[in-house]
Amino acid sequence: MDKGAYSIPQLVEDLKAIHARAKDEHEVIKLVRPLARRAALAKDSWLKPEMFQADAEQGFGFHLLHEEPDHSLAVFAVSWLPGRGTPPHDHGTWAVVAGVDGPELNRFYERVDDRSRQGHAELKQIGAKTFGLGDVVAMPTGAVHLVWNESDAVSVSLHIYGKHINFTQRSQFDQDKQTAMPFVVKVN
Ligand SMILES: [Fe+2]
Repeated sequence: MDKGAYSIPQLVEDLKAIHARAKDEHEVIKLVRPLARRAALAKDSWLKPEMFQADAEQGFGFHLLHEEPDHSLAVFAVSWLPGRGTPPHDHGTWAVVAGVDGPELNRFYERVDDRSRQGHAELKQIGAKTFGLGDVVAMPTGAVHLVWNESDAVSVSLHIYGKHINFTQRSQFDQDKQTAMPFVVKVN
């Protein structure tokens, strides 16, 4: 596997080319997946110490590396404090995430309600997997997952979204209360 140089500007150029020619989201994800792995393995090209900083209140740190003027093709380095993570959530767009430093547990869910009641959601867990360096999680629009750092050190992953996730009206879910609420993150 290529562990050579691959900068974020190079990644963005490749993302733009894919976005321009891919016929649908399925094809975008298929083509972005190997780029995310390549960028993760080439972390020495772009990963900086400040990207390990995380917000103590939210439990993670979103470091914006790129977005287009219309908020599309958003790239973030995301850091995760030990023992912290997210509630189950969707993205309101496609998402391709690659492990960069440290293991991150992902749990995957399916929405089993009929989406007819505003603010109501029922989830069923359909899988779980821990991802490390170069491992890629690719999710179409509507996929639901959570991320958790079960290790005792800060972890970092590279997140590529079809659109900046604070501009997609996406949701976080409470599985016990069966609620859906807006999910906006603090971004560095
Ligand atoms: Fe996510």
